[in-house]
Amino acid sequence: MEQYIMRGGQPLEGEVTISGAKNAALGLLAAAIMTDDDVILENLPDVRDIRVLLQAMQEIGVQVEYINKNTVKINGSHIDSMSIDYEFIRKIRASYYLLGALLGKYKESHVALPGGCNIGSRPIDQHIKGFKALGATVEIEQGMIATTAERLVGTHIYMDVVSVGATINVMMAATMAEGNSIIENAAKEPHIVDVANFLNSMGANIKGAGTDVIRIKGVEKLHGTEYSVIPDQIEAGTFMCMAAATKGDVVIKNVIPKHLEAISAKLTEIGAVVEEYDDAVRVIGTKRLGSTHVKTLPYPGFPTDMQPQIATLLAMSEGTSIVTESIFENRFKYVDELARMGAKIVVEGNTAIIDGVEGLSGVAVSAPDLRAGAALVMAGLAAEGVTQVDQIEYIQRGYEDFEEKLRGIGADIQKIPVDDERAVRRFQLKVV
Ligand code: UD1
Repeated sequence: MEQYIMRGGQPLEGEVTISGAKNAALGLLAAAIMTDDDVILENLPDVRDIRVLLQAMQEIGVQVEYINKNTVKINGSHIDSMSIDYEFIRKIRASYYLLGALLGKYKESHVALPGGCNIGSRPIDQHIKGFKALGATVEIEQGMIATTAERLVGTHIYMDVVSVGATINVMMAATMAEGNSIIENAAKEPHIVDVANFLNSMGANIKGAGTDVIRIKGVEKLHGTEYSVIPDQIEAGTFMCMAAATKGDVVIKNVIPKHLEAISAKLTEIGAVVEEYDDAVRVIGTKRLGSTHVKTLPYPGFPTDMQPQIATLLAMSEGTSIVTESIFENRFKYVDELARMGAKIVVEGNTAIIDGVEGLSGVAVSAPDLRAGAALVMAGLAAEGVTQVDQIEYIQRGYEDFEEKLRGIGADIQKIPVDDERAVRRFQLKVV
């Protein structure tokens, strides 16, 4: 077990390059098994969630060959099992994308039922509704969801809630159904568009991804492709908030600025300078920022995956801010940890009322989940003194080379074993 230790107070400065989007890559990897030809995927982030999904795929007979750290060759022609164990689902919920991918290709799939998780209960009724509408029988027994179909037939599906996962899963299955499907009230996140573009590059016929109506003409067969994953909007947003929180000046490269608009708008509103270039953004946070209200919403609204980072930034800004979480019910668990660093935040239901303080001070805190973990590192880099963040396995699920990238823009951060008191003391005594 490892932890991060960092000394805060140093403005982050320089350039950082964003990796491929984890959440897009998870969808693309699952979709890649839908052809028997080779698929080459580039710009995959080298993070734990991706490695676990690749393992789950290998377990059912998918051939996975790493060409380099960020490029894999996938071949799904030797799949000999339709069943994904709980072992994988427990580690990574998105293994459930194999439900839609296998159902589309083989008209059968069995995946262990995902449980709740650290950010709240997460039903999958919309995924099931979509598969059933396409003609599949869906049964839940002994902790597994089993789908089977004689044939899948295109249909009109109205999603009751806007769900990224259900949109991707149902879109994959519908891609290989007979006839036309329409998914209404679809999610519009950039990774939905990426999965649709990827499937189209394999011979699918999907139109409208990125709007709330997706139209799919089913095809019988998909073919191989080479494809590069889009940049990670949330990793970029995290570095943007970090630049602002440390009063730094950071150029964040390899991004699609359009995907960052909700974040850029909030940062600008509270007084940071955000400059947009073709494939980069520069964030300058030279002074203490102001307050605002933020409500998380499906894309193009403010992303729930950026909620802990913006709330942490607002905890150090001047004035009172209100952050409302409207997607997941349990996403304020990091607030107690931030309070231990001196933040003044009161949570009432799905709303956090933040009374900005002048500064935070370093203590030992625990990452409760992936994005909140990154937010605590951000707090540590802005705080006075030394901060330790443990349970960094969460952070490693989704941020590639996190501490290396941070060191590259001037952060004083190290990864050390959790129980290595001597390493902690050495870091504390280090002359800066
Ligand atoms: C994806 C992202 C996650 C992000 C979230 C919202 C991946 C791998 N994960 O998660 O990082 O935080 O989108 O942007 O891409 N819901 C239902 N029934 C369903 C499905 C969802 O009620 O069948 C509800 C959920 O409880 C939640 C809301 O819909 O309140 C949105 O969830 P969803 O968009 O499905 O999130 P995920 O795809 O799980």
